[in-house]
Amino acid sequence: MMNFLSKYACVFYLLVLLTLLFHNFITLDVKWKSDLHPKQVQLCFQSTAAANSTLEQYNITSEGLSHLEPKQSFCSHLGQEPSPEEALKERNLLESISWSEPPQQPTPTPIEETSDPAHSHFVFVPAEGGKDRYVGAQLEARVFLKDFNGRPKSYGGDFLLARLQSPELGAGVAGQVIDHNNGSYSAIFPLLWEGTVRVEVTLVHPSEAITVLRRLREERPDRVLYKSMFRSGLVSETTMCNLCLPTSQQPVCNYTDILTGEPWYCYKPKQDLSCDNRINHFRAGYQNNLITDKETLLFQRSNLKARIYATGSDTVTVLSAKQEKLGDNRTSEKEATVMTTLSGYYFKWSWRSLGGAAIREYNDPADINQCLKGKVVNMYGDSTVRQYYEFLTSILPELKEFNLGSPVQAGPFMAVDMAHNIMLNYRSHGPPISYLPLSVTQLRYVANELDGLVGGSNTVVIISVWAHFTTFPVEVYIRRLRHIQRAVVRLLERAPETTVVVRSANLRSQSLQESLVVSDWFAAQLDRVLRAMFQGVDVLLLDAWEMTLAHHLPHNIHPSTPIIKNMINTILSHVCPEKN
Ligand SMILES: *[C@@H]1O[C@H](CO)[C@@H](O)[C@H](O)[C@H]1NC(C)=O
Ligand SMILES: *[C@@H]1O[C@H](CO)[C@@H](O)[C@H](O)[C@H]1NC(C)=O
Ligand SMILES: *[C@@H]1O[C@H](CO)[C@@H](O)[C@H](O)[C@H]1NC(C)=O
Ligand SMILES: *[C@@H]1O[C@H](CO)[C@@H](O)[C@H](O)[C@H]1NC(C)=O
Repeated sequence: MMNFLSKYACVFYLLVLLTLLFHNFITLDVKWKSDLHPKQVQLCFQSTAAANSTLEQYNITSEGLSHLEPKQSFCSHLGQEPSPEEALKERNLLESISWSEPPQQPTPTPIEETSDPAHSHFVFVPAEGGKDRYVGAQLEARVFLKDFNGRPKSYGGDFLLARLQSPELGAGVAGQVIDHNNGSYSAIFPLLWEGTVRVEVTLVHPSEAITVLRRLREERPDRVLYKSMFRSGLVSETTMCNLCLPTSQQPVCNYTDILTGEPWYCYKPKQDLSCDNRINHFRAGYQNNLITDKETLLFQRSNLKARIYATGSDTVTVLSAKQEKLGDNRTSEKEATVMTTLSGYYFKWSWRSLGGAAIREYNDPADINQCLKGKVVNMYGDSTVRQYYEFLTSILPELKEFNLGSPVQAGPFMAVDMAHNIMLNYRSHGPPISYLPLSVTQLRYVANELDGLVGGSNTVVIISVWAHFTTFPVEVYIRRLRHIQRAVVRLLERAPETTVVVRSANLRSQSLQESLVVSDWFAAQLDRVLRAMFQGVDVLLLDAWEMTLAHHLPHNIHPSTPIIKNMINTILSHVCPEKN
């Protein structure tokens, strides 16, 4: 009987694993499966208060965690000590992304008193000195947040997105949202083309939901479960891994990277296996039951990425700048130059740069070959940079992929065009990488890979590291970027001709469960850190955030081909600037 049962359990386990593999094979998108080993949840990042309750739940003693300061996420402080200068920069960074919190109350805000998009609205602020609006001016929409009872909100902290579009022109631009901390917000748009423009405002999360997300970010880095398999001969065992694990529970294997000091740990197998027998690394599922039923109400269809509509018209007519000057009706092709911090906008659904170099359209593969001739393009990071590899290999007929037999998500991948002497490489970043099994020998840190490059005018580097960091405290991401940024600076110092592109985060679709792990709010915070970390470094910051916000296509972790094509145009225009 026992034998039968254990066989049955094993078959069941296999089935679950296969389903999991099947469902998650192609994309990085979150799929919800129950955790295979709920008892092995690691507790490392939790504040003492949260740790206490989880410890009870998992029947584990709190010794070894007792030295922790409450509210401290100690994993984030492991690894190499930052220099005093870097520590100061980190403090300033954290300060700069601080998010206004709802007033502290003894009890959570009742759902009826949280922000409700359906009751909220926006109106246009009248144009200065008259009712006409011209290219070159700014448009401001004032957004008023109300709760489910229709009462105005009195505090800020809601996460809003705004954009302005003229679909018939294929035009779109992101808006800048300013929180007045009193329940009202300003969405500011540059007016860059003439015609009818429509404003769209979206509430991604009410401020009360951000409080929940912030807590999860600091206390539950185990929202994605990472595991490794150990094997020697016929003996194998799978254990839980993460950036840090409580050592009081079970001995750990320390896989901290020697060069960068980036921490990574797995529980030591109980069987006769050593830490050297670790074979692979994989995502083993997602943590369930992260929030209470009441908190769930903050992530419904009605208040998760829901539109806020205008009272009255949501469109305005923009006249050409010349009309303003000449006072006549002649139209002008020339756009006014607008003071803005935005990176660009779409026109005919082609991305145009604001302030940067002109972006050329690469519609002919021959033009791309011409640009990439003699170059090695190294792409490092998550699947959002892998998309560039996939795009280029799909459109360049002479670029042939070399079959390395790599797993479809993780790579590494290599494609070569012998005639034009073009080589493309993709390699995933090191842990925490939330892919299906990859060999531990392929777990490489981007900083170390960059240190292995000669660089030079024939080298293009494209980096995208963000999507797998949304489950960790921001300090973890800052530390990772610090290592990458330093390696980029070293590369540019030894080979200044090297082209480096850093891709920003982008918007994605998200359900309730997904938003707890991969919310756009987490990504927005990381994105601001990324921009600050590379400020003053000679890299192209590819603004995937604005490019996904300004486009009409639905948000997707893997932006659709028209957006990717625009990103490739932006990269190639930077790699091969037009000579005047
Ligand atoms: C955690 O539990 C210990 C022992 O029960 C208790 O002394 C301590 O105050 C608790 N800490 C918090 C922050 O609740
Ligand atoms: C909120 O703050 C803005 C900016 O300071 C101000 O213009 C507006 O009148 C305020 N609204 C309310 C309802 O207090
Ligand atoms: C793991 O190794 C690193 C470097 O080798 C060391 O700094 C760190 O303290 C070790 N971690 C533990 C928990 O022993
Ligand atoms: C400009 O347009 C207005 C109405 O659209 C028209 O009445 C006026 O005659 C036009 N002026 C010129 C100079 O064409």
